[in-house]
Amino acid sequence: MDDISLMQSQYLLQCWARQEGYAPLAVERAEGCWIYTQDGRKIFDLRSAHECINLGFRHPKVLAAMKAQMEKVVYVTDDFATEPTARLARKLAEITPGNHHKKVWFSQSGANAVEAAIKAARFYKYHQLLEKGTTAFEAPGQYPYPYKIISRYRSWHGATALASSASGDPRRWFQEPFNVPGFVFGPDAYCYRCPFGLHYPECQLACANYLEQMIEMEGGSGKVAAVLIEPVVGSNGIIPPPPEYLPRLREICDRWDILLIADETMTGMGRTGKMFAIDHYGVEPDMLIMGKALGMYSPLGATIFSEKVARVFDSHIFGMGQSFSAHALSCAAGLASIQVLEEEKLVEHSRLMGNYLGEKLRTLKERHASVGDVRGLGLFYTLELVEDRNTKKPLRKVTEKYKPTVVSKIAHFLLEEKNIYVPSDKFGLWIVPPLIVSQEEIDFIVAAIDEALVLAD
Ligand SMILES: Cc1ncc(COP(=O)(O)O)c(C=O)c1O
Repeated sequence: MDDISLMQSQYLLQCWARQEGYAPLAVERAEGCWIYTQDGRKIFDLRSAHECINLGFRHPKVLAAMKAQMEKVVYVTDDFATEPTARLARKLAEITPGNHHKKVWFSQSGANAVEAAIKAARFYKYHQLLEKGTTAFEAPGQYPYPYKIISRYRSWHGATALASSASGDPRRWFQEPFNVPGFVFGPDAYCYRCPFGLHYPECQLACANYLEQMIEMEGGSGKVAAVLIEPVVGSNGIIPPPPEYLPRLREICDRWDILLIADETMTGMGRTGKMFAIDHYGVEPDMLIMGKALGMYSPLGATIFSEKVARVFDSHIFGMGQSFSAHALSCAAGLASIQVLEEEKLVEHSRLMGNYLGEKLRTLKERHASVGDVRGLGLFYTLELVEDRNTKKPLRKVTEKYKPTVVSKIAHFLLEEKNIYVPSDKFGLWIVPPLIVSQEEIDFIVAAIDEALVLAD
């Protein structure tokens, strides 16, 4: 038999990694929360395959839907209609917050869905001004329509040019100095390390108020098209905002007539104990972005446009496309996945298991000096590790993103000694299991982390 690990390490470029030492584990198969390797190991995937397999690997109903679809039609262009594409678009229009008169555009990744949202926001604002017959551009030579997107420093929206330019994450630095202009970054709703040194609730949401100041200083609705946020920050720390934060942002965007875009690539599909993270806050965004677990086993992204935004494309070109857009097989996987979430009440399960997980993780904080903060919602949790709990000294600075920390050691220990796979490139530990995780599996994970944290203490 070929050594596929060797072959892959020889020919594949691993994402975001120095290639020397790349030694992927050769996989035989994967089932539920577990990956089975060719050399007989059974490994728990605590990052749900980049937060994509919320239903665990090989959910039989999704596989059956995909197989059935493959027998009919895998892909035709959107000049033709297919059952799964039509039904999934309708389903997403129905289950996302707001009225059902939405429109959906399908891509293959979160980044592309983000690109579509940014383009649409600018186009929407442009037409809004044209329709008003506005001559709001007072200074001569000003760019003729609102184009700025306000994002936040702790954010990741994807690796394509626009999406990466919209991301505060240091991964955008790989593209510099050629980031696309027009993006400005605001402060984060990160209470553990408040950018203003304040405490919630006495802060009165200084972070949101500052965003409003930014809108004004950036030129208001004559210059700013949208505010782009992850309702619960993912890659940059799993940070749920205070309860009033997103309603406040909605209010601010409405006051300035600016669009609010929610990137739920990581948090959609029940991850946080509701179908969408924004559902926790009762806010309707103007656009909602999905990816990752939407297609579950097949690459699929979606940009869901509210009626107000979608309407502009009734009589104007929607200037976005991809060869494989509205892919029937991916849509069949997505549709079946949502059905499974509903039938098996997995969003509820995510909430209940999340409560259980959160309680157990908080007891770890009591026992381990290295745990600075425990944060999360549903099955989306992190233990932020620190060098010193009193000073909150972080394990590494943002400028040291690729510097190995004790988290790498913990990840190595968990993988080698406990057969648990967690991301090692974080400043904390991630606990992001598939939503089908059982209480016993959570006990097993938390006990293993308990042991591993001694390395950090
Ligand atoms: C919030 C968010 N948006 C967008 C993306 C990009 O998705 P993709 O990697 O599918 O392009 C990610 C990926 O991690 C993400 O977490």
